[in-house]
Amino acid sequence: MDIQFIKDFLGCETPQAWCEAAALNQAILLIDHAHCEKKAASTALMMMFRYADYEQLILPLSKLAREELRHFEKVCVLMKSRGIIFTHLTPARYAEGLRKGVHSQDPQRLIDLLIMGAFIEARSCERFASLINYVDDDLGIFYKSLLMAEARHYQLYLNLANQFAEEDLDGRIEHFRKLENKLILTPDEVFRFHSGLPTL
Ligand SMILES: [Fe+2]
Ligand SMILES: [Fe+2]
Repeated sequence: MDIQFIKDFLGCETPQAWCEAAALNQAILLIDHAHCEKKAASTALMMMFRYADYEQLILPLSKLAREELRHFEKVCVLMKSRGIIFTHLTPARYAEGLRKGVHSQDPQRLIDLLIMGAFIEARSCERFASLINYVDDDLGIFYKSLLMAEARHYQLYLNLANQFAEEDLDGRIEHFRKLENKLILTPDEVFRFHSGLPTL
């Protein structure tokens, strides 16, 4: 799958040093990945509650939440087959960092949350694609199957943002792109699925 459109949206690629760190920290990579899938489902559910009267939002988000939970289950099965035990992990700085850029008032808040969702899905897709050359074949096949779903999720969030926006989204997308790229490209002491440049 050609993910150039995802890379164009993101504006920067995952640094090679992060992929090398991922290859050395596969247990943490998988455990954190499982947490991210669970979080993706819970974020979609949260939006379904908060924006319950936005009809166009409810069904696509419900479907997305189910799909993310299936991803979660698949990562759990894969971890089990590798003897990796699912444990609590402190989250990456990434999602919290992006959330700082979200407007506090609606309707702008909804648009921002949808754009933020698009970035998280796009980055996940790009990370899976980048990781393929750094992991074993079984994991590579698994990531390949997931990256197509995450590309679809990116598109869904972006389409929803465009549907609800009353004006052009370019300025808001650029605002989140700057924030996101900084989180990806600046040194980060804690290795996670969405962490920045490894410091070790
Ligand atoms: Fe997912
Ligand atoms: Fe997703």
